[in-house]
Amino acid sequence: MNTVKTVRELRAAVARARSEGKRIALVPTMGNLHSGHAALVVKAAQRADFVVATIFVNPLQFGPSEDLATYPRTLAADQETLLQSGCHLLFAPTVDEMYPHGMDDQTRVSVPHLSEGLCGASRPGHFEGVATVVSKLFNMVQPDLAIFGQKDFQQLAVIRALVRDLNMPIQIIGEPTVRAADGLALSSRNMYLSEEQRTAAPALYAAISQIAEAIQNGERDFSRLLTAGMDQIKAAGFRPDYLEIRDATTLRPATPDDLDIAILAAAFMGTTRLIDNLHLTKE
Ligand code: PAF
Repeated sequence: MNTVKTVRELRAAVARARSEGKRIALVPTMGNLHSGHAALVVKAAQRADFVVATIFVNPLQFGPSEDLATYPRTLAADQETLLQSGCHLLFAPTVDEMYPHGMDDQTRVSVPHLSEGLCGASRPGHFEGVATVVSKLFNMVQPDLAIFGQKDFQQLAVIRALVRDLNMPIQIIGEPTVRAADGLALSSRNMYLSEEQRTAAPALYAAISQIAEAIQNGERDFSRLLTAGMDQIKAAGFRPDYLEIRDATTLRPATPDDLDIAILAAAFMGTTRLIDNLHLTKE
């Protein structure tokens, strides 16, 4: 596996693979890779002949009081994980390489409605930052397909919308969340948790799962379910940001007869913000 740092090298390596008739997959990440990321690369290698992963901690998607400076940067370990998972090329650019004209003058991609509410409400500008960097990576690599984790459910919806609206000929694939044995969704931010917080953290998924189970058993009083879920999350020591039952495609509040439902949550454990979700499809 080669690691390149410039757009020129990236384009040259992708062009070579393309000229050999290879089908190209892209797995964008911010690094500090765990087995959830590895699963995305493994899936990419099953679906394509040439897998490009990217590691870029994108300043444009962090708010001023967020963890941009402390976000874990673990390039050597990440290279090993990517190699073991079947990646062919790693693009790990600097901020200057990605934003050579500065971030203030950077053209932005913004996806209305889907970017508002949920994580968008407490992280203003976040999804514009994501949509912009992902669009740039799509244009640099021009992959046949790109793979993202379903843990970032709203992000995946935003990316599907931008590809549709900007007519990008890229297949977007969402991969199921990888969880620890106790249910906690794997996330690079889990490493911020103290031992005690880590023990309490699976309560977020437990609350979502109980709501999912109740809905599957025919419960339609969503507000009652959400109140009980909030109480459960708070009792575990979380400060909830949101807990919502939404239409899985539009992300608008779900109605009792919605067939495609997502239960989405974000909550702070100490200063660490964790997100999780479950996607329910009714028969
Ligand atoms: O999910 C992430 O790690 C990031 O938001 C992404 C998609 C790599 C864009 O920076």
